[in-house]
Amino acid sequence: ESYDMAGHDTYMHKEITEQADAVDRVLRGRIDDRFATVHLGGLNLDAREARSVRRVKILGCGSAYHAGLIGAQLVEELARIPADAEPASEFRYRNAVVDPDTLYIAVSQSGETYDTLAAVQELKRKGARVLGVVNVVGSAIARETDGGVYVHAGPEICVVSTKCFTNTAVAFALLALHLGRIRDLSVADGKRIISGLRRLPEQIGEIMKLEPEIRKVAAEYAEAKSMMFVGRVRGYPVALEASLKLKEISYIHAEAYPASELKHGPLALIEPAVPTVAVLPEDELIDKNRATLEEIKARSGRILAVAHGEQEQADHTIVVPRNEVELDPILMGIPLQLLAYHTALALGRDIDKPRNLAKSVTVE
Ligand code: AGP
Repeated sequence: ESYDMAGHDTYMHKEITEQADAVDRVLRGRIDDRFATVHLGGLNLDAREARSVRRVKILGCGSAYHAGLIGAQLVEELARIPADAEPASEFRYRNAVVDPDTLYIAVSQSGETYDTLAAVQELKRKGARVLGVVNVVGSAIARETDGGVYVHAGPEICVVSTKCFTNTAVAFALLALHLGRIRDLSVADGKRIISGLRRLPEQIGEIMKLEPEIRKVAAEYAEAKSMMFVGRVRGYPVALEASLKLKEISYIHAEAYPASELKHGPLALIEPAVPTVAVLPEDELIDKNRATLEEIKARSGRILAVAHGEQEQADHTIVVPRNEVELDPILMGIPLQLLAYHTALALGRDIDKPRNLAKSVTVE
């Protein structure tokens, strides 16, 4: 992949459309079909060490943190290791208890984000084992960590992250599968996840065909004074990332909430001028999610759903291809990158260089 725009008007658009290839690259050479296992050469964590991990703690900022939230869910689901993600920028300031049985993972596109680097350095000083899930090879965080997984998204120039976010989530799926197969994930489930991972590039290609439809929807939503993004469990990190993306490049105020939390307060904001984007994977929570849509509808809220089939409560549904439930969040974020892009375009924003933001925050 090159640094020129290759015929696109913005780097963001170029990078969104590169995602099928980028995902192909992060998977390449890493899967062993015979045993349904994964080779991650740079991990520096043998099977005995991997079995002794009691907890996984993922640290990153902004989109890297959101990809880490997807990563934590994948580690819990596939490897059954308790896992969570926290903004590195918070972690480094709160004198966290550093536990020797916890595997810490720092996530960063640039590998130079100061808050994440400072968290890694503090953890290392306290004797913790820290891995990196990093895009830029040889960057500061890649050098300071004990090992890790390169994300291989290729150069990401646009200030907002798109292909690196997606590839980071896929890298976490590989890591979770690796840990799972060393622990209790069955061969059959390993094969199911591998076949899902292999379907991703083609399914991303199908999502790209939705761009004209998403452009039309974006033109409508560009009028909104504020937008609400909701999702439950697997859908929630997708909602958080989509809301950040919209804010960063369109400057429309947006909030992301777990769908389950709406009734505990934010429902008060719902009115026709505040549309909701709902992320609804076809998983065990779909009925709960539909009930949330009813609650929004009852308050005259407009709804844009991202789902695996038409949602009758929604004003518009973007129907995306279905993968394995564990991997669906990876795909569901992509149409919402396009939504943010086309909303910002409709508003005439400087998409590659949004005001007040830098690609990599290397200072405190
Ligand atoms: C992404 O859209 C943002 N510009 C920002 O949140 C970014 O993800 C964050 O600053 C972390 O950067 P990093 O991945 O290079 O560490």
